[in-house]
Amino acid sequence: MSRNEALFERAQKTIPGGVNSPVRAFRSVGGTPRFIERAQGPYFWDADGKQYIDYIGSWGPMILGHVHPEVLEAVQRVLANGFSFGAPTESEIEIAEEICKLVPSIEQVRMVSSGTEATMSALRLARGFTKRDRIIKFEGCYHGHADSLLVKAGSGLLTFGNPTSAGVPADIAKHTTVLEYNNVEQLNEAFAAFGAEIASIIVEPVAGNMNLVKATPEFLQALRERCDEYGSVLIFDEVMCGFRVALGGAQQVYGITADLTCLGKVIGGGMPAAAFGGRRDIMAHLAPLGGVYQAGTLSGNPIAVAAGLKTLQLIQAPGFYDTLTKQTRRLADGLSSVAKDAKVPFSADAIGGMFGLYFAERVPASFAEVTQGDTKRFNAFFHEMLDAGVYFAPSAYEAGFVSIAHDDAVVDATLDAARGAFARLAA
Ligand SMILES: Cc1ncc(COP(=O)(O)O)c(C=O)c1O
Repeated sequence: MSRNEALFERAQKTIPGGVNSPVRAFRSVGGTPRFIERAQGPYFWDADGKQYIDYIGSWGPMILGHVHPEVLEAVQRVLANGFSFGAPTESEIEIAEEICKLVPSIEQVRMVSSGTEATMSALRLARGFTKRDRIIKFEGCYHGHADSLLVKAGSGLLTFGNPTSAGVPADIAKHTTVLEYNNVEQLNEAFAAFGAEIASIIVEPVAGNMNLVKATPEFLQALRERCDEYGSVLIFDEVMCGFRVALGGAQQVYGITADLTCLGKVIGGGMPAAAFGGRRDIMAHLAPLGGVYQAGTLSGNPIAVAAGLKTLQLIQAPGFYDTLTKQTRRLADGLSSVAKDAKVPFSADAIGGMFGLYFAERVPASFAEVTQGDTKRFNAFFHEMLDAGVYFAPSAYEAGFVSIAHDDAVVDATLDAARGAFARLAA
């Protein structure tokens, strides 16, 4: 028995499913999860000592690669001063100033500890601000595991949303309307039917939780227009795409301004930090200024803020996003070309440091299109690559992540491994 297998067996005795977050369990691809012992740059090593090129980067945060020396130093510098105070610190002001500078639609920001907290709090704020209950989300977008957001479409536009998780009360799910991503017509119908009830639209402007699916510019523009028309709050959930697709996030790429933005992942540099922020007049409704309650024992934790702040400073290096974008594109195009040589139906897409791999001829534009991909083939590819020392997301429904430490040699090694993998898939 390998050490990974032994650890997985042991983990299942005291941890449900052996993992602290479901995707880590390899349920959709099968096999034994790798237990990671250490990481450096673009690599990590499992409990059996095997090295992998890491294309999940902790699901987004590790944009600088693992254990960047300057981030490590920044964390070490503050560690000895204390881990948490429950009182304000100067570094919280510094990270707030940095976030407001980098994402101009954010005039004020509140730190939290996870993306789930960020979206949940932003929605409560939008509801408190508008004094309305109904929200709109889109099929295939994931916004964390708050009750209001674990909802799928009812049988029709005017029917109530249904919970996607046991334990979510139908009475809560009914306030969430789920529409198709990139479908402007459906959006317009929904607003025509009940626009005056809609507190908020929440959307991943670049979706990374149904594999990678980019919003069309017309779609995001329509969201902005309907929100303006009906006084609803537009929330961009940039927990994943913020500081990932561009320095100013998806709103910079598309040139569309959100009322509220949720951030996470990169802003913690691998530590538990997330945030939500936006228009000052909306943020003024948050406690202690206003009546919308929100709080957190570890919010703005000094160690997490030190890692996040240093990460935000380093990603501002000249040419950072050009290099990251070029390398991610090289990976996506390289994989497409290798698959083509092997005559395997495959496509790939990329934006900034995020990419999608699809076992389908065309890049998808909605969740329904993503589900048409060949997941059996993806699973076989995933395991071929894993054996060859390349760790892609263990699910056909997740995006991948490239860090600035993934240089030419790392991408070339990945493409070499893929050549063998695709050839065997085709056989
Ligand atoms: C777009 C988006 N929003 C929210 C979340 C939830 O963040 P967290 O896992 O930190 O709670 C995620 C997590 O993957 C995400 O990708």
